[in-house]
Amino acid sequence: MKKASKGRKAGRKNWASAIRKKLIEAAKTAQKRSYSPYSRYPVGAAVLAESGRIYTGCNVENASFGLAICAERVAIFNAISHGEKKLRAVCVAAKSAKPCGACRQVIIEFALKDAEVICVDWQPLEKKEKVSYTRTAQLLPKPFNPSEAGL
Ligand code: THU
Repeated sequence: MKKASKGRKAGRKNWASAIRKKLIEAAKTAQKRSYSPYSRYPVGAAVLAESGRIYTGCNVENASFGLAICAERVAIFNAISHGEKKLRAVCVAAKSAKPCGACRQVIIEFALKDAEVICVDWQPLEKKEKVSYTRTAQLLPKPFNPSEAGL
């Protein structure tokens, strides 16, 4: 490989890891704003939109339990309501963080085909962190597909 192309590749790698770090920090900060007095399970999320901007969300619960909304959906709806169309990455931070089934369908609706999903198993008190990466295509085996349904 030529020197210049090697340099470009390394540059892209550094850029991607800097963005990942930013997303992870943003999700952890959002987790601190969680309103979760019922479950006591705070979750934070951050999404990277196609524009390059980052939007965050936390889970927001209610005394009427069924009205709770997950951090991932709050972050995604935050991005969409700011005029974003597509997402490049979704990051979720919580103890044993993994998007629920409903959020997976919502992620699929808005994420670019090869978008990255970053799960940060994060326990703030112990400052323990374990990060895992996947792609949107791996999230749901047979997602509801609007074009197949003629929508
Ligand atoms: N929750 C999220 O915010 N994201 C997930 O991926 C799973 C669950 C929230 C919903 C509820 O406020 C609490 O976690 C317990 O289920």
